[in-house]
Amino acid sequence: MPAPLVIAMDGPAASGKSSVAREVAKRLGWLFVNTGNMYRAATWAALRDHLNPLDEDQVARAADSWNITCPIADGQCIVQLDGHDIEEELNNEKVNRAVSFVARVPAVRDRLVALQREIGRAQPVVMEGRDIGTVVFPDAVAKFYIDATEEVRARRRGLQGQTDTVSERDRIDSTRKTAPLIAAQDAVVIDSSHLSLDEVVTCVMNELRARGLIQPKA
Ligand code: DC
Repeated sequence: MPAPLVIAMDGPAASGKSSVAREVAKRLGWLFVNTGNMYRAATWAALRDHLNPLDEDQVARAADSWNITCPIADGQCIVQLDGHDIEEELNNEKVNRAVSFVARVPAVRDRLVALQREIGRAQPVVMEGRDIGTVVFPDAVAKFYIDATEEVRARRRGLQGQTDTVSERDRIDSTRKTAPLIAAQDAVVIDSSHLSLDEVVTCVMNELRARGLIQPKA
């Protein structure tokens, strides 16, 4: 079986990695996959089922019952729960507060990593998340870790109209036992604090060109 064509794009909350990954995928004509939305869908299901997100055993027992799928439309994976599009629910305050707790449960991660691998093996993808380069696709053809200062990230979230405490989520995401947020050793680290989206995308495209992964003019 040929090695999957995956570009991994990891980083903390509001570092800009989603926008960068989406744009890079568009330029390459590859599928953009937002894995944070999968963890958000699991969290939404946990809250719908009246579970306590802090109770790892309770969440683990329920994880297999959630029917999370990612059909492809317009070059993007659209996360669905039980066949329904729930993307509009995924960034609400309750999900923001609970998602890092649900995402630290190994049974939840096992299911979603399997889904991510299935998608990444079926077509070329730019996949963004926290553990794509370290756990999901350690053999990704290129890995990027998009960072930004805490202050800049909090400001970006505010501009998106969200009252998300990114620093608290990052603390939980970086210190959990399973697949913590960490830059892969072979990732190219880009500090986006003082760069525009276009400048970060240019850095990524230049790196891909330098590695011969895309044509000189792509
Ligand atoms: O990218 P995001 O902020 O929408 O991600 C929501 C949460 O999901 C984040 O706090 C950590 C978790 N997550 C994860 O653990 N692993 C991933 N690959 C993607 C997201």
